[in-house]
Amino acid sequence: MDTHAADLPLPVKAALCSGASFWQTKTVLGLQAITLTDGPHGVRVQHAASDHLGVGASSPATCFPPAAGLAQSWDRDLVHRVAGAIADEARSLGVSVVLGPGVNIKRDPRCGRNFEYFSEDPLLSGSLGAAWVTGLQERGVGASVKHFAANNTETDRMRSDSQVDARALREIYLKSFERVVTEAQPWTVMCAYNKVNGVYASQNRWLLTDVLREEWGFDGLVVSDWGAVADRVAALAAGLDLAMPGGDSSSDDDVVAAVHAGRLDEDLVDDSATRVLRLLRRAAPAQPAAIERQAHHLLAREAATRSIVMLKNHDAALPLSGDESIAVIGHFAVEPRYQGGGSSHINAAELDIPLEEIRARARGQVAYAEGGDAAISAARTADAAVVFLGLSDQDESEGYDRTHIDLPDEQIRLLEAVCAVQPRTVAVLSHGGIVRLSGVNRCAAAILDGALLGQGGGSAIADILFGVADPSGRLAETVPARLQDAPSYLTFPGEHSQVRYGESIFVGYRGYDARDIEVTFPFGHGLSYTEFHYSDLAATADHHGIAVSVTVTNVGNRDGRDVIQVYLSFPESTLSRPPQELRAFDVVELERGAATTVTMHIPRADIAHWDDRIESWVVEGGRCSVRVGRSSRNILCRTDVQVVGDAAHPPLTADSTLGELLSDPVIGPRLAEQFQAMAPGDSLGTDVVKMISSMPLSRLKTFGAGDAVAAVEQMLSDGAESPAESP
Ligand code: BGC
Repeated sequence: MDTHAADLPLPVKAALCSGASFWQTKTVLGLQAITLTDGPHGVRVQHAASDHLGVGASSPATCFPPAAGLAQSWDRDLVHRVAGAIADEARSLGVSVVLGPGVNIKRDPRCGRNFEYFSEDPLLSGSLGAAWVTGLQERGVGASVKHFAANNTETDRMRSDSQVDARALREIYLKSFERVVTEAQPWTVMCAYNKVNGVYASQNRWLLTDVLREEWGFDGLVVSDWGAVADRVAALAAGLDLAMPGGDSSSDDDVVAAVHAGRLDEDLVDDSATRVLRLLRRAAPAQPAAIERQAHHLLAREAATRSIVMLKNHDAALPLSGDESIAVIGHFAVEPRYQGGGSSHINAAELDIPLEEIRARARGQVAYAEGGDAAISAARTADAAVVFLGLSDQDESEGYDRTHIDLPDEQIRLLEAVCAVQPRTVAVLSHGGIVRLSGVNRCAAAILDGALLGQGGGSAIADILFGVADPSGRLAETVPARLQDAPSYLTFPGEHSQVRYGESIFVGYRGYDARDIEVTFPFGHGLSYTEFHYSDLAATADHHGIAVSVTVTNVGNRDGRDVIQVYLSFPESTLSRPPQELRAFDVVELERGAATTVTMHIPRADIAHWDDRIESWVVEGGRCSVRVGRSSRNILCRTDVQVVGDAAHPPLTADSTLGELLSDPVIGPRLAEQFQAMAPGDSLGTDVVKMISSMPLSRLKTFGAGDAVAAVEQMLSDGAESPAESP
């Protein structure tokens, strides 16, 4: 049973709502204080000096692929299992809450922290985030979904104001959080550093209370990002429960003083302190059990293998048979880049080295060269070359953004020189944020994109190279041909602490598709060593949503995994909408020759758009094209369903236009009668209707139609319009 904190003295309640130290809460009533610490791709427990920038040393932990890699698996079950393993390590290390997952949308390829986020798409981000939270919490450790919200830039991150229109906020930036909160009920949500439409997230009552708690039903605790609270009193009033890090009690005194001065309602302090107590109770006691290092390493390898995307495979350059002589080139083959910099940086318990793993699988000769003339001559004499390319730790990190998305020039020159002497050249990529690949795509025969793969990446890459495993990863972010093509190109990272989200809902593939821009590799793209065939696509719509089923057959000559992607499009929409949006996905594993029918359900809520005029989700009726494919630009089959829309619209008033009034099923015909009465015998031509349809009713008076206006106003006040909500 909860003890309501109201029974405690005010100074104790205020103190409970800030931490005791860098990573720990305070405690009362004999409850144990708890430790919250980073992840999220492994546990980062610092025992000596503490910091939130990944600087100080931490205990060894299994390093799973960071979100940028893991998301490429599109695999909820895998993410769930990874989070379960992280929970077990957290409990062994005495951690009650792991600070993740990060479900912010990758708005712009330059965001320095994109490696910690899943995708440019809210369904993919939210679904994987929910799987992660469920996997973690099922094993008694709490999650902290972060950074709530619209935290998509590192530049000036503690002051910048994300200025986002309501539709983009709801449909893109809040959507991934909404899915995690409603599907997985995280113990905690971490508020972002930035402002959202002028108000710091930490002090934003609309965000932390109206939306998060009242609309979505969140019943957990809101914790600040480390150092995000500028004004404790304003933060508590907005619904922020726990200010971190702890150690400075002066803001607790501010809270007490504000209550005494009547500037802060004590009930709000009670509510927040009660939530802190509930979190302390929820936390399972630490378990000093040994970590299952070997099993977790194998899981890290499996996760890495499923996260690799084969972007290109010209002339079946891959897989290698194992009998070839191979030239392995590039520094990352011996010192892999496998995680990002900053607060998520963990001390990997083990590390697979790609070169060693390649040697362990190859029967032919394997030569290694970091670069230079040696590399070219090794490539010339070998049967195949594998060139490791990527970004270094300094190129991208938490805390700053990139200014470009190019790979270093010298790497491209090296690759070109190798390709000039060796046609069977495979490029292997390591990077957190996406990189421009037109140069690599021009010359390499095959490309494997690992993003960041964690400690098992070395063996995963070798397994894919030699065909021990089928590459089944798919891009979770578009690879544009040029940075200038990115929808947010002109407004990132903003200026004078303001970021205007000018592209609105047209983020990622939504923006590339809407402007019909050529991309190097589209969202959802990824090749396999086998081939899949889709057939018997069927879709039905009812008041619960849209059910889609499709038969997938492995028609190639080996076993493999495929990711089925369902995009919806409303070709007759009257709204400004992306040409299509990902609305469902699933993963299938099929033996050679096998077939299965995959059924996916798209809830009606997921096909609604946000109508800011009535501050509500609305389903637009009409023809909906259901498209199933292997990427956003490779749709293999499609069918149509008819969707019944909501009749929701803003109430009609004298300020409504004639067009709006004429299209109302009740008022419309009566208004048309008024027009007839004004000009008896004269029929209203279509063009005339069009010409006047944007005129507000009240303005008709100016044109001598005062009687007609009065008659319609009377109908409106009699409540004659059609109901605003459909049954
Ligand atoms: C980061 C958070 C992190 C926290 C604690 C902050 O700088 O933004 O993601 O959880 O530090 O290390």
